[in-house]
Amino acid sequence: MPKKLEGTIRIKINGEWREFSPESDITPSMTLSYFLREKLGYTGLKIACDEGACGACTILMDGKAVLSCLTLAVQADGHEIVTIEGLAKNDPVVEAFAEQCEPGHGTALQCGFCTPGFVMSTKALLSQNPRPTIVEVKEALSGHICRCGCYSGIKKAVIHAGEKIAQRGKNE
Ligand code: FES
Ligand code: FES
Repeated sequence: MPKKLEGTIRIKINGEWREFSPESDITPSMTLSYFLREKLGYTGLKIACDEGACGACTILMDGKAVLSCLTLAVQADGHEIVTIEGLAKNDPVVEAFAEQCEPGHGTALQCGFCTPGFVMSTKALLSQNPRPTIVEVKEALSGHICRCGCYSGIKKAVIHAGEKIAQRGKNE
């Protein structure tokens, strides 16, 4: 990590180290979800319950799925954050969720409000365990709520994403 200026908060967001002022940019009580979404414009991140009960605000911090509404922005100092905007269009998880909303596949998303959160938790899961069982998928995503009830499609998308990762690994 590059050396930071005294008294600043430095966060790597979607691949780029950025520096913030603890006075004008980040207040002590500001949540990471508010900071990322409202101050920096990463609106792919959704805030639904704002109390840790739905998973919509999930982002990656140092590769782990984290509820950004339960995390203070100052806690991200020195850490690496990835929001859905930081994923490539051909990311296997992004592709698998997109394909799972095509007719005949059993959709993984209707309104899409919960999707970024599910995608980020899926990224974290598959980075540790690329071929999870259905039980492991359910466990890893158990903190997420989909009000449209697309759970069956979501599970298929996660398994499909794991298959894509395995396939790409073979082709490399
Ligand atoms: S908005 Fe963070 S868990 Fe619901
Ligand atoms: S697709 Fe609407 S809440 Fe999940």
